[in-house]
Amino acid sequence: MDNSFDSTAVSDLVPDMPQYAVPDYLQDNYWWAYVHPRAVNFWDRQWLVNLILLGNYKRLCGAVLDGFDNSLPGRTIQISCAYGDITPRLSRCVEAGGMLDVIDILRVQLDNLAPKLSPWAPVTLHQMDSTALKFADGRFDRALLFFLMHEQPMAVRKKTLAEALRVVRPGGTITIVDFARPYHSNLFCRFWTLVLTRLEPFAPDMWKGEIRDWLPKDANIASIRQERFFGGFFQKLTITLAGG
Ligand SMILES: C[S@@+](CC[C@H](N)C(=O)[O-])C[C@H]1O[C@@H](n2cnc3c(N)ncnc32)[C@H](O)[C@@H]1O
Repeated sequence: MDNSFDSTAVSDLVPDMPQYAVPDYLQDNYWWAYVHPRAVNFWDRQWLVNLILLGNYKRLCGAVLDGFDNSLPGRTIQISCAYGDITPRLSRCVEAGGMLDVIDILRVQLDNLAPKLSPWAPVTLHQMDSTALKFADGRFDRALLFFLMHEQPMAVRKKTLAEALRVVRPGGTITIVDFARPYHSNLFCRFWTLVLTRLEPFAPDMWKGEIRDWLPKDANIASIRQERFFGGFFQKLTITLAGG
């Protein structure tokens, strides 16, 4: 049974329906990146996103799609929108009968994503908080979190991870792509770390700790696989749940 009772395809959102409040951490720290409509117009350029990821956008998207064997049978949830073309690319991998559900707390982000998708794409957009997903336990075969972790304060981040684990079925996977502590500190990485720290106050957690340590202690996990990219500055984590 689909438990997404108060999630609505963006095209169906009623203008005066109650909206989610913008969380303080987003409003205070990311108004310039995600919240203000002009910010969305400015930042959602493939070359700019690629620049912020130090030229690794294509490679990291490729790692996600390769990890899925370019095929998404069943149901997939992307937890929060991301700039660039990763969601349209994912949508083209959805197998017949499958669905890609994308959630984001900001309506402006969902509105920005909608025209990037084919009208026939098997994608449903939901305005939803990653810390309180309105889906039943085990609803999805897999979840993707693409550069969300470094933007959330620790308490929020842990709730998001717990929710991702809850909505994925036993035997399913959670894929997380984000920053990590580079293997060797070089001037370039130190400079970029400094820039990120100034702009993104929760990002330093990514080089001080490990995502696996932020998972709920009672999580039913079969394996965690970590891949590193660009001297370790980026990571892809694949968490496989036990059972299934
Ligand atoms: C995934 S990150 C973007 C990553 C990267 N900068 C990019 O564009 O590739 C930013 C998104 O996370 C969303 N977000 C942040 N906190 C959220 C929450 N609690 N629930 C749902 N979405 C959230 C923001 O609204 C924004 O659209």
